[in-house]
Amino acid sequence: MSAFLSGLAPRPADALLGLMAAFRADPREAKIDLGVGIYRDEAGETPIMTAVKQAEERLLASETTKAYEGPQGNTDFCAAIEEMVFGAQSEARNDGRVVSFATPGGCGALFVAIMFAGRISAEGRIWASDPTWPNHVNLARSTGRELKSYSYVDAETGAVDFPAMMDDLREARPGDIVLLQGPCHNPTGIDLTPEQWAYLGDFCAGQLLMPLVDVAYHGFGAGLEGDIAGVRALLDAVPEAMVAYSCSKNFGLYRERTGCLMLQGGAPRDVAAGATHLADIARAAYSMPPSHGAAIVATILGDGALRKAWQDELDAMRARMQSLREKLAAALEAETGRDDFASLTAQNGMFSQLPLAPQITELVRLQQAVYLPASGRINIAGLSDETVAEVARRLAPYLTAPPEEAEG
Ligand SMILES: Cc1ncc(COP(=O)(O)O)c(C=O)c1O
Repeated sequence: MSAFLSGLAPRPADALLGLMAAFRADPREAKIDLGVGIYRDEAGETPIMTAVKQAEERLLASETTKAYEGPQGNTDFCAAIEEMVFGAQSEARNDGRVVSFATPGGCGALFVAIMFAGRISAEGRIWASDPTWPNHVNLARSTGRELKSYSYVDAETGAVDFPAMMDDLREARPGDIVLLQGPCHNPTGIDLTPEQWAYLGDFCAGQLLMPLVDVAYHGFGAGLEGDIAGVRALLDAVPEAMVAYSCSKNFGLYRERTGCLMLQGGAPRDVAAGATHLADIARAAYSMPPSHGAAIVATILGDGALRKAWQDELDAMRARMQSLREKLAAALEAETGRDDFASLTAQNGMFSQLPLAPQITELVRLQQAVYLPASGRINIAGLSDETVAEVARRLAPYLTAPPEEAEG
């Protein structure tokens, strides 16, 4: 009989990880996985990007030590990511008002950011979109922060319901964190416009709110520059902000755990003080970030030819997802006889949310061997030219019929 563990109620399993395990265990040959959030190519693989492989070869030949790097990690990596996010001409960077830390993935950056939020405001709450990526909810719970939701999608227009979002955010208190997703919102694929980003920047500055921008799909929506324009508009409008950046998707470095947390402050002195807290939090949580992924990214972004090869491959991935969106919309329209799937083509990145209730997603899995989470989110990159028509055929009955009449 244990003194502590016997009283511990087990946590429910992570739904998405559970879905992945169920997919692996499913013996049906025709099974299709649209659940897990990783990029896949036409063959259903998640290959190592060519530039990454080449950078690794260089690193293998040139690396001379595995000694500790320090809590900030690879500073060339930090500078290169900063430049991609803030732009080469950024005033904040030129003024010494930005500091960055390499982190274990985007999740590591979000974790440090949210712990840091507790240092700037002990009572600060976290505002996230409804819906949002489930791990945002988990992060708030695990760090003991209260999570508040703001409205996000206008079901009628399929765009961001900005008036409703702002109505909710007007309830935020000074010191609260406003968590905003950068390009390619997970799970909806519906993004803020640059004007809305700028407005949010002014609003956060006026209300003394701290924006935390989660950039996990840079380059997957409108390309590297187009995707970051809105984030820059916010950063220009607000003195203080944080950006959590993930290289998992756009460099395909998932398991290398490669991310970056950037802190912008109103003055160099503030940023220097903030950096001591970020270092403190990193030291306690994991001491130092993993170095390999950051070294790969620094190598790619620091070399013209590798950078070009990476960008070309990223462009091809984006074009593939866009073409799959178009094919899926056309196939769903053909299967259902409805004309309301065009919004799929206006959405960005890897995800879209289909109008399927949680219990219907379960039916789709059992009856059609198509795996998607209860939110109805589909991974567009999980489709292929070969499967897209078949997926539309399998999903169509569930999308047209009301839930209780759905049939296999
Ligand atoms: C919205 C969002 N933020 C952050 C991340 C961070 O991912 P990672 O920790 O693997 O870099 C992800 C990954 O799925 C995501 O979807």
